[in-house]
Amino acid sequence: MPGFELWSNEERKEVNEVLETGILMRYGFDGPRKGIWKSKQLEEEICKRFGSRYAQLTSSGTSALTTAMSALGIGYGDEVIMPCFTFVASFESVLRVGAVPVLVDIDETLTLNPEAVRRAITPKTKCVMPVHMCGSMADLDALTAICKEYNLLLLEDTCQSIGSSYKGKPLGTIGEAGAFSFDFVKTMTCGEGGAVITNREDIYQKCDGYSDHGHDHQGVDRGADLHPFIGYNYRISELHAAVGLAQIKKIDTVLGIQKRNHQHLKNVLSQVPEISFRKIPDPAGDSCTFLSWFLPTAEITRAVINELKSQNILAGNFYWFDNNWHYIRKWDHLKNATSLSSLHPELRTAVIHHANKDFTASDAIMSRCVSTAIGVLWTEEQLKEKGDKIVAVIKEVLQRQGVNA
Ligand SMILES: Cc1ncc(COP(=O)(O)O)c(C=O)c1O
Repeated sequence: MPGFELWSNEERKEVNEVLETGILMRYGFDGPRKGIWKSKQLEEEICKRFGSRYAQLTSSGTSALTTAMSALGIGYGDEVIMPCFTFVASFESVLRVGAVPVLVDIDETLTLNPEAVRRAITPKTKCVMPVHMCGSMADLDALTAICKEYNLLLLEDTCQSIGSSYKGKPLGTIGEAGAFSFDFVKTMTCGEGGAVITNREDIYQKCDGYSDHGHDHQGVDRGADLHPFIGYNYRISELHAAVGLAQIKKIDTVLGIQKRNHQHLKNVLSQVPEISFRKIPDPAGDSCTFLSWFLPTAEITRAVINELKSQNILAGNFYWFDNNWHYIRKWDHLKNATSLSSLHPELRTAVIHHANKDFTASDAIMSRCVSTAIGVLWTEEQLKEKGDKIVAVIKEVLQRQGVNA
């Protein structure tokens, strides 16, 4: 996900404006900052571009999720239903607020299977958290209907799908809140950073306070701020927000190039009838940061990955099934609830239970899935060469395995 691929003078200019004032903090120092408020400005730009009424910047996507969950009142005794294919940050945030991450199966959208969500609902369920993985989206019609039926909160982990939409609505604005990540490998980057977006003023006010030690931000004297509740420090710095301000202006260029390159690569891979593609609930809203495709069996997929590796052309092709960060299969630390500080025994038991459930339905999908990251700096020749090489490897493996290609 390529924000960093388009790094140039615009980012340097924004950062230099902050360096010239020397005020690196987003709050206070009204005089010396000489009217430079990069974080506030970026929040305004996020609202404009992503169609939310409010935005609260944070230090990361992980802290944005944690902040949103706190603002939604998720905590002890609550369960949050989330997919077993995501990034570790999604369950870390649930644990951080003291709730139970209830991992459930995905389907060929590579995010929550609505039927699995339905089956996992208990009287303790408070929130459903779809994770819009790899640039595309969950089946939000089905999930919003479930949330309505059972009176559950919907929190969108939109960290990987900035700029995607569902039936015309930006991802992150469909549930009560959405979380973005602006870490170094996201569609737009601040270096490190994140944001909660929401249309609800009460949630925004809580995010604003929670991410800054519970400050009420009512006056100009920080020392006189009241603390209506206990918060934390999840603030972003002005330097990071400055980078984001330059990046957000490039987002439509990035999305346009991704869509074009994604379509070209898809055309090339479509030559192989054994390849099928990820189910996209609203193809027009796909941000196209990845092209995710399936092969007929786990054996063929692993053989293709091994062959790409041995030919030194694996880079940019992700086999999540074997990845330590993104799929339940390799999360032994979660399965054993290994933590540095003690977890409440009730939470620990629940974590171990939910992380050790049967995920064979997801295994059957993930073991056949490869996601190819879409570059924004690829030339047409490089794109064609990349696609042709992948196709050649797949055909060779299919032939070797006795499948007619
Ligand atoms: C799905 C998902 N959620 C949350 C995060 C956390 O974002 P950050 O790295 O900014 O903390 C990431 C980061 O990769 C992610 O992919």
